[in-house]
Order: sequence, then C-alpha cells, then structure tokens
Amino acid sequence: MDDITNNLLHEPVMVEEVLDYLCPHPGQIILDGTVGNGGHASKIMNGISPNGLLIGIDKDEEILQMAKQYLSKAGCPFKLYHADYSNVDEVLRQAGTDGVHGVLLDLGASSLQFNQSERGFSFAKEGPLDMRMDRSQADTARDLIQRLSEKELEELLNTYGEERWSRRIARAIRKEEKEAGITSTRQLAAIIERVIPRGKSKIHPATRVFQALRIAVNKELESLEVFLNKIHKHMLIGARIVIISFHSLEDRIVKNTFAERANQGIFKILTKKPITPGEVEIQRNIRCRSAKLRSAERI
Ligand SMILES: C[S@@+](CC[C@H](N)C(=O)[O-])C[C@H]1O[C@@H](n2cnc3c(N)ncnc32)[C@H](O)[C@@H]1O
Repeated sequence: MDDITNNLLHEPVMVEEVLDYLCPHPGQIILDGTVGNGGHASKIMNGISPNGLLIGIDKDEEILQMAKQYLSKAGCPFKLYHADYSNVDEVLRQAGTDGVHGVLLDLGASSLQFNQSERGFSFAKEGPLDMRMDRSQADTARDLIQRLSEKELEELLNTYGEERWSRRIARAIRKEEKEAGITSTRQLAAIIERVIPRGKSKIHPATRVFQALRIAVNKELESLEVFLNKIHKHMLIGARIVIISFHSLEDRIVKNTFAERANQGIFKILTKKPITPGEVEIQRNIRCRSAKLRSAERI
C-alpha cells in the first residue's frame, strides 16, 4: 500500500479524523462522493472489508481511472461511477442499493488537477483557462470570461471569491479580453498582479479569482446544496456523514444544512465546531491548512 501511496500526487487529508467519525465496520456500504484517486477510499475499504462495498463517485473521468487501478488492490468490493455527486439518487439506484452506512465528501479540486498545467487550475503554471473537473462538460473558464459582462464578472468574484478588489479586476479583465483576448492562466494571473495593490498577505493575489472561476465553472456550490438536500434519505439509522471543506462558502452550506437537519430531528451533529488538521499534518501537506471537517449521524 505504501509504495502506491507514495506514487500518488494527491495526499488525502485528515485521514485519521475521517476514519474516527465514519467508523467503518466490516460488511458496511460506504459512499465516497469525491473518490479522487482513492486515498480515503482505500483506508475506508480496510475497515469494511472483506464483504463491504465502497461506492465511489467522481466527475473527473481520468482521475476515476486512477482510482480504479489503485482500489483494485485493496481487497474489498467497490463500484465507481463517473458522475456528479448531486446525482446520488441515480448512482445508488445503479449500484443496486438505497441505504448506506456512511458518506464522505472531500470537497474541491484534487492535487492531480492542480498539478497538471493543461487543466488550467493553477495560476502558478502556464496553461489554458480550462478548470473543468469534468472534461465532457462544455463551459470552460475561458468561456465564462468571454461571455460575462463586467458587472457579472464583478459579482462572480465577489460571491465565489470574496474578492475585495472585484470591481477593479473585472474591469481589467474585460479590457484585456476586448483588446487581446485572455487565453492562459499566467496571462490572467499577470492582469490581477498588475491591478491590485501588493499587500502583506502571504497568499498570491490571484488566489481568490482562480477559486471563484473554478467554483463557477464546476457549479461547486450548487452540487453541494443539491446533494445535501437528498443524502439524508439514503442514510440508514446510525449512518455517519463526514464532509471536508476548504473555504468558508462550502463550510457555511454544510454547517447550515446540518443544523437544519438537527432541528428536523434527522441528524445528531457530532462536531459542534469544525475539526481542523493538526500542526504536523499542515507541515507535511500545506494544502490541508484550510480544511474543515464536519460530521453528523442519522438518527
Ligand atoms: C479533494 S479531491 C478528493 C480526493 C480523495 N478524497 C482522495 O483521497 O484521493 C476532490 C475530488 O472530487 C471531485 N469532485 C469535485 N466536485 C465533484 C462533484 N460535484 N461530483 C463528483 N466529483 C466531484 C474532483 O474531481 C476531485 O477528484
């Protein structure tokens, strides 16, 4: 297992905490809605083997192929689906099951997506302005930039990036798009670097804009909301749900939905405050620094 783990480019975050809250037992059916290359899934499979079932979903076909290879060595049955996790009803129907004992979502993009320059997720690497997790989908980040008006772009950067310089950036993007066309990640990052003041912040000035475009291209918040409106109906009594989010917009949706389900007497919240990674993990894997884990149990 370790050999394979070392070769993977995405390091699963907060693995111990995920297992503590999910509490996988032999024979259980667990749904991993963001299976990625299978880092968390393989650990869960250790807990549910030999006769459990791992149902994995990912909207990135290439990553799903890697998961298939990786998980086939785990010694436990699994079924993988190329789908958006918001289509969970249909996936579970195809898997031939309605009730699950556990659910995991590890939100956002995978390091595999960030590290491949041709996917266009990273402002640090020259690549096309793509950012689609599902490459069979039509709209790319470039399409959005071409199509949106200055006002719409400003709103998008405000809403999904919480970007305080959204107006200035939107104006600069529209201007360059009209004059030269914006086709690459570095070109977009350079526009942002040019127009916003260099503060003392440690994060790169393009971080929020890239986050906002990625969320919009992949309809990330819509998928999460749709999923959260359905998933409790598929959770058996006592089933646990664990969700790891990476920014406040996602975390707010998870927190509010869990609270709503608790008020309805459907969930017991297991994490009054979100669980965050320890110092040792942050030092090993800087990408996990903004992770927040929330969990609830179906009652
Ligand atoms: C942070 S990675 C998950 C990594 C995984 N837990 C592991 O240990 O390898 C998130 C994954 O979720 C997928 N994803 C994001 N939003 C999705 C959605 N709405 N439906 C299905 N997959 C999604 C991405 O393509 C990506 O592979």
